[in-house]
Amino acid sequence: MAIAVYPGSFDPITFGHIDIATRAAKLFDTVHVLVVHNPAKNPKLSLEKRVELVKEVLAVVPGKFVVDSLASGLLVDYCKGISAQALVKGVRTNVDIDYELPMAQVNRDLSGIETVFLPADPAHGFISSSLVKQVADLGGDISKYVPELVVKALKN
Ligand code: PNS
Repeated sequence: MAIAVYPGSFDPITFGHIDIATRAAKLFDTVHVLVVHNPAKNPKLSLEKRVELVKEVLAVVPGKFVVDSLASGLLVDYCKGISAQALVKGVRTNVDIDYELPMAQVNRDLSGIETVFLPADPAHGFISSSLVKQVADLGGDISKYVPELVVKALKN
């Protein structure tokens, strides 16, 4: 039984994240989509709200996903706790690679866990949670970038 963990802030989940999670679900039996509190970021949505949105959005593929959260502690400890074989990360550009590579290396150094990088679909290559939030805050249309329930959550 191959288990992967797809971690991130998901503030909010976008069509880019959904694409990576769906593709990861074809490679692994179970994918734990892990909403992580990242102290380096000041999230717009609470951890609980982000988990709720991820659960609702991914419910369309029954049986493949476990949606969970990590409020503190090491990602690799969570991975050990569920006997995960791999971490999954989506990469859009070299900027993502520069950010993700040291994290992949430290996670492997700490625990031996491998990180599988999936290249972003070019259709989603420019979508980021931070740009979505900025466009939404300034009154722009984000419906091409996130599901309808996320549009509504950001309006509230
Ligand atoms: O979506 P993000 O904010 O870019 O995701 C970054 C995240 C949450 C995956 C990263 O900050 C993380 O793994 N945090 C967990 C704490 C941890 O284990 N840190 C040390 C190794 S990177």
